[in-house]
Amino acid sequence: MYRTHDNGALRANNIGETVTLAGWVQKSRDKGFMIWIDLRDRYGITQLIFDEERTPDEVMKLAKTLGREFVIQVTGKIIERESKNANIPTGDVEILVEELKVLNAAKVPPFTIEDKTDGGEDLRMKYRYLDIRRNAVKEKLIFRHKVTIAVRNYLSEKGFIEVETPYLIKSTPEGARDFVVPSRMNEGQFYALPQSPQTFKQLLMVGGMDKYFQIVKCFRDEDLRADRQPEFTQIDCEMAFVEQEDILNAFEGLTKHLLKEINGVEIEQFPRMTYDDAMRKYGNDKPDIRFGMEFGELNDVAQHKDFKIFNDAELVVGIAVPGGASYSRKEIDALVDWVKRPQVGALGMVYVKYNADGSYKSSVDKFYDQEDLAQWAEKTEAKPGDLICVLSGDSRKTRPQLSALRMEMATRLELRKADEFAPLWVTDFPLLEWDEDTNRYHAMHHPFTSPKPGQMELLKTDPGAVKANAYDLVLNGNEIGGGSIRIHDRETQAKMFDYLGFTEEEAKAQFGFLMDAFTYGAPPHGGIAFGLDRLVAILGGQETIRDFIAFPKNNAGRDVMIDAPAKIDDAQLKELNLKVTV
Ligand code: AMO
Repeated sequence: MYRTHDNGALRANNIGETVTLAGWVQKSRDKGFMIWIDLRDRYGITQLIFDEERTPDEVMKLAKTLGREFVIQVTGKIIERESKNANIPTGDVEILVEELKVLNAAKVPPFTIEDKTDGGEDLRMKYRYLDIRRNAVKEKLIFRHKVTIAVRNYLSEKGFIEVETPYLIKSTPEGARDFVVPSRMNEGQFYALPQSPQTFKQLLMVGGMDKYFQIVKCFRDEDLRADRQPEFTQIDCEMAFVEQEDILNAFEGLTKHLLKEINGVEIEQFPRMTYDDAMRKYGNDKPDIRFGMEFGELNDVAQHKDFKIFNDAELVVGIAVPGGASYSRKEIDALVDWVKRPQVGALGMVYVKYNADGSYKSSVDKFYDQEDLAQWAEKTEAKPGDLICVLSGDSRKTRPQLSALRMEMATRLELRKADEFAPLWVTDFPLLEWDEDTNRYHAMHHPFTSPKPGQMELLKTDPGAVKANAYDLVLNGNEIGGGSIRIHDRETQAKMFDYLGFTEEEAKAQFGFLMDAFTYGAPPHGGIAFGLDRLVAILGGQETIRDFIAFPKNNAGRDVMIDAPAKIDDAQLKELNLKVTV
């Protein structure tokens, strides 16, 4: 037996017992005649004491050779500590060591295994197994486990069955690039790793599984950001014989359960907002509604004077930044520079200081009088002391620009509180999205999403206006889930593929299996998939998902620890009938 207790277990009532512990040397203090060692494992830290007068000589000698991160086993008696440590649960006791065994020596770690480490991001990623020993990372992985198990238990109790679907499949059109895997046995042919189990879960509905879920890896070859990894995990769900309302209720139930179990937060009912309203009020289809700063559209009250920039703009729109009237000229100039950064892309920003005394001072006083500016204040719901920031231009560009400014200001003003949770359903997404690069419409969600009833005809006349039975769940300004009610008849699905530019042959070659399945009695069905990494991160009060993944990829999509991706040798290439030209 390696240990009788873990390092977080021992208390004052254990005094007098003889125990065996194992773990890593966190730190060692050697006073010559006395050595103290902090012994660490997943569960905590226990102090060991080696005392010249009470510890056997050979043990004392060996203890002096121990370095940080050595793996050791000790046996000894629990005694009361002279100077107690109220900061750790085991702080009342220490082990007077009688036996010591070095289970494994360790090199000096490349960074300190402490809450506040001296290791930079790259170094910690290279030695991720050492990083995982740190509380900060360990706690996040344990937190992820808690969320995951709560999800599994909840869904299982509600009658959902977890079914595994294959990883070696054919391309699924979720909008990103596929990772492909060459097939040795089928020369010149490739599998694709699933971007999601979308088609399989629909086939499970045709198969009569009725309520399915799966906590599943998905793979997307897309540019990475703080909330995106090339391989990530979904809580993928599908139900048969349901309408949108059933799905929203079922998964609002799951989310409420998690908020309560994990965060102790109870939310009565999640608000809902249409996509159009979200874009109009927040310039964003995943608005953070923990704070206000709603958009005020100013066209009516800003295009009646000689200010050409506004007069030429499709949209003039502003927000009121709380307390911003006190910003200095320098601070406002910096804000203007901020919106002009290429990442935001605004051409400029007009501002109005709504002074505490009720007067207005703006950057366009030449064109607008106090009455005009009072109307802007009314539209943006500004209060005395606020700064109204106004952007203008093409509405498709201006809204996201103002949205970026809104989020930035909320971050600076600390309005995005990590322990406050504001879920929101965004509904009625457009079915299609215009793609500038290919000059055509694409499915906004995926091609299996059904249009709202009676809208199929609109496809011919006004495709951009067609709304889908599609919804996203937003939490604190992050899209944590998305889904839709699916098309379940062959004819409509064929029409949709046709509309999306697939020839009949292409549709058949790629999705013949699904369309065939629809001819054998497909039930009406729909579902949703949550991004587990995002959900966990946000419940954990953060937005960077990497910290909640044991072995994440860096921004270039590399695993720097195992050094992947990597070249493969010629023999392997030959076996796969592949030629590398770079
Ligand atoms: P969607 O593409 O919206 O829907 O994905 C569902 C959720 O997965 C998360 N997500 C990601 N998380 C981390 N890294 C990524 N690269 C990444 N991409 C997506 C998001 C997102 O809301 N098959 C459909 C679901 C359905 O229709 O039922 C789908 O995959 O939180």
